Amino acid sequence: MKIVLVLAAGIAALLVDRTSAAEPERTRRQTGDLAIQSRAILGKYCGECHKDGSTRSALAVLDHKQLVGLQSPIPFAAKTGARSQILEFLDDGSMPPAGHPRPTDAEIAVLKQWIAAKAPSFPKAFDTATTQRTLLDDLEQIEEKNRPFMRYLSIAHLVAEGTGTPALKAVEFNLQRALAAATEANPAPPVPIDDSATLFRLDIRTLGWHAPDLFEKVVDGNEAGVFPMNAFDLILLEYPDAAPIAGSDAARLTRALGDMKQLRPIPYLKADWFADALLNKGVHTPLAEELKSLIRLAEKKTKPRPDGKLNEDFASRPSLRSAVPPLGAFYPKHVAAQAPPFPKLTLEVIDPKGDAIALVETEEAFRLKLTADADGHFVLLMRWSNGELGVQKVEGGYKFKADKARILSPQKKEAPFAFQISGLLNGKDKGNEYFILLASPGEIAAPTIVRSAHAKFPIWRFLPEPVEPGAVQRAVAEIAVVKK
Ligand code: HEC
Repeated sequence: MKIVLVLAAGIAALLVDRTSAAEPERTRRQTGDLAIQSRAILGKYCGECHKDGSTRSALAVLDHKQLVGLQSPIPFAAKTGARSQILEFLDDGSMPPAGHPRPTDAEIAVLKQWIAAKAPSFPKAFDTATTQRTLLDDLEQIEEKNRPFMRYLSIAHLVAEGTGTPALKAVEFNLQRALAAATEANPAPPVPIDDSATLFRLDIRTLGWHAPDLFEKVVDGNEAGVFPMNAFDLILLEYPDAAPIAGSDAARLTRALGDMKQLRPIPYLKADWFADALLNKGVHTPLAEELKSLIRLAEKKTKPRPDGKLNEDFASRPSLRSAVPPLGAFYPKHVAAQAPPFPKLTLEVIDPKGDAIALVETEEAFRLKLTADADGHFVLLMRWSNGELGVQKVEGGYKFKADKARILSPQKKEAPFAFQISGLLNGKDKGNEYFILLASPGEIAAPTIVRSAHAKFPIWRFLPEPVEPGAVQRAVAEIAVVKK
């Protein structure tokens, strides 16, 4: 009897031992979180003395290469998950030195899990330069013919801003929901390419966002040839936060961007912005609807009708897009921490008496009043109620003088020298139209206008020429139009 009991206990002990020794399966997010948390703990309790080997110790706790690289006598943090000098000094109490704050038990437990997970890497800093370098290392090992389809989304800025790791999981979740919202499918999640899971690679072919030849250029209201841009480019046009291509990796980045063949030179997007741009508080944004309609358009184009025509109404619902088109990405209304060229630039809709108005009836005459506090040049753009865009020509040239109001009227051969909206193009009784003024101290080029090849509800965009930040400022006059 006794022997049996002992044996049973022995087997139980063996089982417990084996399960506790086995490493739990972790998701990329969980492993990434361990790396991010461990970096923060080491930085907080050890960084002061172990920054860059400048103290009596050679250890630099934020230098992951060093942590896993130095082997003698015991590695600081081995990739094998075996002994770690950091953990042993923490355990025996020799580090941090007496009198210095010590990590909590929970924090030490995180470090232990991190070592057990084979010390996944973290960068010295979660900054733009690091993110760009991680991206370059990844893109350069991708076959050249596939590079035009690779795009990158980052959450490293959230770590740098001190966002806790549980929030990163939520951002990833939102990202996945946003991708589903803008593709009608449930696409495979983007792949993290760094150990700390802060930079994700997206193959736009898996989303159907890669089709070319869906847009055409529009000149004076007429089609003027295919314009090379795809669905992802539409997102780039709205991105407000493009990092400048500068620093020691600038040449490599420029080459990489050439390989990616994007409309705007933006190596990666912030994933939280990206998710909100497609799915805002659970609601599909107009941009998400447009992306989906481009997928349908691409499918139609590859399977044309026997007569070669497109007969489908691709309901992109441009009427949803009641806001000004995404010129804001290029010309922010107020550029933070930077004086705009015209601190007091205004554009108003005025009636024949000169009073500002916010509403007109169809066929009612109105003009625009432009005021600024410095001399400059301008172009005037328009967005009609159905989403169509155009360049509006005006009488009397495209200059204005400081503190002298310019009254703008359309370029016309005969009276009444005023704007009139003859009918609402959205087919409804009311709608909003926008005049968009781009002003600059120097001469300014009118943006290119493109539209998608949808039969009935094309997607329209302005494509401004790239300018120095702060060189161009915009003013918008919104006017509500009601049917007479
Ligand atoms: C107040 C300064 C200070 C803090 C805080 C501190 N250390 Fe140290 N540590 C030192 C100094 C100085 C040495 C060099 C050996 C010595 O003279 O004791 C050292 C040595 C070490 C060593 C041995 C490797 C070597 O280069 O000699 C390890 C490992 C170590 N520290 C880990 C840590 C860890 C992990 C933390 C944070 C939990 C930490 N230390 C916090 C000052 C500090």
